[in-house]
Amino acid sequence: MNPQLLQAGEAITKQLIDIRRDIHMHPELGMEEYRTARLAAEHLRSLDIEVEEEISGTGVVGLLKGKTPGKTIAIRGDMDALAVDEENDVPYKSRFPGKMHACGHDGHVAILLGAAMILSKMRDSLKGQVKFIFQPAEEKGPDGGAKFLIKAGVLKEPDVDAIIGFHIFPHIPAGQYMVRYGKMMAASDTFQIAIKGKGGHPGLPHQTVDAVVVSGYIITSLQTIVSRNTNPLEPSVVTLGTINGGTRHNIIADKAEIKGTARTFTETSRTFVEEKIKALVQSICQGMGAEGEVNYQNGYPHLENDDQVVQLIESSIKDVMGPEAVFHMEQPVMGSEDFAYFSHHVPSGYFIIGGKADGGGFHPNHHPKFNFDEGILSPGAVVLSKIVSDYLK
Ligand code: NI
Repeated sequence: MNPQLLQAGEAITKQLIDIRRDIHMHPELGMEEYRTARLAAEHLRSLDIEVEEEISGTGVVGLLKGKTPGKTIAIRGDMDALAVDEENDVPYKSRFPGKMHACGHDGHVAILLGAAMILSKMRDSLKGQVKFIFQPAEEKGPDGGAKFLIKAGVLKEPDVDAIIGFHIFPHIPAGQYMVRYGKMMAASDTFQIAIKGKGGHPGLPHQTVDAVVVSGYIITSLQTIVSRNTNPLEPSVVTLGTINGGTRHNIIADKAEIKGTARTFTETSRTFVEEKIKALVQSICQGMGAEGEVNYQNGYPHLENDDQVVQLIESSIKDVMGPEAVFHMEQPVMGSEDFAYFSHHVPSGYFIIGGKADGGGFHPNHHPKFNFDEGILSPGAVVLSKIVSDYLK
C-alpha cells in the first residue's frame, strides 16, 4: 500500500469528475477533438509540463522530465466520442445530439490528466521522463489516430522505452483491474469482393453468368478458411457482413458485392487468410465464367502485450490497491484497438479498468446508455502514477 499516493488521488477526485463531465457534455468525433485537445494541453501546461499540440491534427503530447535522466515511459489515452445519441438522463448529458462519449474516452482523458497531476508533484523522485499521449480517433478504424501519431514521431525524442494503455470496461466491477500477458486483441481487416457476371433473362440462364449464384459459392467456400485451413488452436474469424446483388426477381444479376471482416492473431495467419480469400474468389469466379476482384485493407494489427511491462502493471497495481484488485483476462478477444500499433513498436502493456458501480447494472461500450462509476477516475490516476514511478525508480 502507498498512503501518500492514495491521498494524492483522493485530493483530485472532484477535479477529475468535473473534467470528465465537461468532456462528456462536449463530445467530439475522431480527428475533431479540438476542444478536448485544448483542455488537455491547458491542464498539462498548468502543471508545468512541456506540451506539443496539433500532432497529426488534434494529438497532444506532454513531456514531464524527472530530476535525473533515465528511461522514458509513455501513457496513452484516447479522446474521441462516437456517433451515438445519448439516452442517459444525467445532468452532464451530451449537449450535442448524435454525439456521445459512449466508450468512456472522456474518462480516459480525465484519468490521464489525473496521472499528470500526481506525477508532476513527484518529479523530483523520477529518474527519466513521462510522455502523456492524448490520441485522437481511436474509433475511426481502419484510420485510427495511433498510426498517424507514431508516424509523426511521438515515440521519438526522447525515445519511448515502454508504453502503457488502458480502457474502462463497464462490465467489470469498479476497483478491479484486468491484465493479460501476450496477445490481447485481434487484428481487424476489411475486404470487399466485387463479382462481375453477365445479366439477362431469368428464363434463359444459359445466356448469362449469374452473379448471385457465384456469390453463393463464394460465401460458402469462405467459411472453409477458418473451419478447414487455419490452425484450430490459433483463433481467427472470417465474417461476411453484407451481400448485395441484383435488382429484380425476373432479371439475372450481372453484379454482386460482398463485404466482410477478418480477425487474426499473427501476421502469418493474417496474410494467409487474405491470400486464401483471394484465391477462392479467383478460382470460383474463373470456374463459373465470372470476374472477381478482392479489395483487402489491413486495419489495426493484433495487440501484443510485453510480459515485463504487464508484470510491472500487475505488481504496481497490487502494491497500491491490494492483491485482490488485479485479475487475469483468461482469453484474448476478437475485438480490436489501435493501441495495437504502439505495441508493435515498443514494449507495451494494455490493461482494463473496471467501471461497474457496486451492485448496479451496466450497458456495454458504444450503447446509448453506456456509463461508468466516476469513483474509478482518481484510483485510475493513482494506478498509472504508481506504474510510472515504479518504472522510473
Ligand atoms: Ni474505446
